[in-house]
Amino acid sequence: MTESHDASPGASVSSSTTSLDASSAESSVAPQQVAEPLVVLTDVDKYFGQLHVLQNINLTIGKGEVVVVIGPSGSGKSTLCRAINRLETIQSGSITIDGKEMPEEGKGLAKLRADVGMVFQSFNLFAHKTILENVTLGPVKVRKKSPAEARRRGLELLTRVGIEAQADKYPAQLSGGQQQRVAIARALAMDPKVILFDEPTSALDPEMVNEVLDVMVDLARQGMTMVVVTHEMGFARKAANRVVFMADGQITEEADPETFFTAPKTARAKDFLSKILTH
Ligand SMILES: Nc1ncnc2c1ncn2[C@@H]1O[C@H](COP(=O)(O)OP(=O)(O)O)[C@@H](O)[C@H]1O
Ligand SMILES: [Mg+2]
Repeated sequence: MTESHDASPGASVSSSTTSLDASSAESSVAPQQVAEPLVVLTDVDKYFGQLHVLQNINLTIGKGEVVVVIGPSGSGKSTLCRAINRLETIQSGSITIDGKEMPEEGKGLAKLRADVGMVFQSFNLFAHKTILENVTLGPVKVRKKSPAEARRRGLELLTRVGIEAQADKYPAQLSGGQQQRVAIARALAMDPKVILFDEPTSALDPEMVNEVLDVMVDLARQGMTMVVVTHEMGFARKAANRVVFMADGQITEEADPETFFTAPKTARAKDFLSKILTH
């Protein structure tokens, strides 16, 4: 945590007004290249009854890293995302965010969960709230921002995702692509440390996919830590540091995007890629 050390001796070199959005920007003083771990899953197991949905998952996501999770339907990708922010409990292993284990319940959970933004396939906006209200609700309730500050920041974020003109409309009045951009703004409004995207473009009409991916690529370039479940290879190639392939509840392969898409190692990944490539 290096926030607001205004006058620390020897820190005079950097004009270190790290903005709220650039939480991953590292101090240029340290020569180390390895990103600090932000999300760490260790030996995670999850069952739905007899079904072993997550099998001994080990995965570390560094600050500022963008990890694409890909794999066949039913392989456990959504469950993985949901476990990371405790929408699902796990039976064994541990998941830490910035060194802290997520509490099971209570205030601590609300606070830590606010550090983990989530963008779902189906937008999940509040239908009876305006676009701006959707974006300001969490910051006021959970982050205890003043309504005026939440509104200022909300409008700024709506501008960033290109929706500012729709601020007073209701979700149903927007296209799917617009609603998903609002969902991204809503996640950002909480100043999360990481955002999980679970197939954010798969419910969209094809012509709206790129407007959402463009916003996500922008976020990635600005250093947001992101876990993205998607089959959009263009996005993976443009923005991901790493691709993680899941099959039957296991991470069976990990590589940089170019290597994964051009030279997958396992038969399972090859087979999967041949199927999505024919579309
Ligand atoms: N709430 C649930 N109860 C029982 N089984 C579930 C539940 N949610 C998911 N599953 C099962 O767990 C497996 C993994 O699901 P999911 O994580 O949604 O996979 P993916 O996102 O990769 O398609 C699937 O077999 C699915 O049917
Ligand atoms: Mg899923």
